[in-house]
Amino acid sequence: MTRKYLIAGNWKMHTTPTESRTLAAAIAEKNIFLKPPPSVQTLICPPYTSIYTALEAVSGSGVQIGAQDCHSEAKGAFTGEIAPNMVKASGCSHVILGHSERRQYFGETNAMLNKKIRAALAEGLIPIYCVGETLIERQQEQTVGVVRSQLVDGLKDISLQTASQLVIAYEPVWAIGTGLAATAEQAQEVHAAIRSFLAEILGDISADILILYGGSLKPENADEILSKPDVNGGLIGGASLQADSFAAIIAAACKLAVS
Ligand code: PGA
Repeated sequence: MTRKYLIAGNWKMHTTPTESRTLAAAIAEKNIFLKPPPSVQTLICPPYTSIYTALEAVSGSGVQIGAQDCHSEAKGAFTGEIAPNMVKASGCSHVILGHSERRQYFGETNAMLNKKIRAALAEGLIPIYCVGETLIERQQEQTVGVVRSQLVDGLKDISLQTASQLVIAYEPVWAIGTGLAATAEQAQEVHAAIRSFLAEILGDISADILILYGGSLKPENADEILSKPDVNGGLIGGASLQADSFAAIIAAACKLAVS
């Protein structure tokens, strides 16, 4: 069976438009060289202000562009916010929602994220919904319960017609930006639990939903983590800011997809 992968870069608050053009062009060049099979998708999510230049720079390379957030309303008096249709019309295919930094620093809750996910799906945007436990929650053996409620509340009442588009990213908060990734076994254990919660919430289509791992994913651990049966790719922060390291992760997925 062909394995499906999505290798997604989350640039966070890095790169001006000019810097993003250079980095996106370097990633595009490497993607063209790697020629990923159709089962391996490549995505980069620059800041909103760099979407346009990144999109131009990746043209024809197969690399897709996503946003890092969006609002749940289509328009209105929400100074500083960006609506899902604006993200879509800017040329984005995906939008990251519920990243732990949004939850932690901007007070985003599962209920708010549920509105955003539904709004994004209604616009034909693919949400990458992030879930994951903090270190204390892991130490207190609450990982599976935390992830379950993030999924149950975040995916409440989503339309089954569009739900197969959804992507989930499991990102243990303690692994993000720390250099300390989950082991492949830890990742697989939670990914398998996510897969079964998705089956409970969404039924049969859950088998098609991509579940990405995020948190200090890098070339050194990509092979092992991406080889696990319920891992369908990665959401990559630090290592996506260097074309070489991001390409090495894409290469690992390409190898696994055809093996
Ligand atoms: P990291 O970030 O790869 O730098 O740990 C991942 C993320 O926050 O999505």
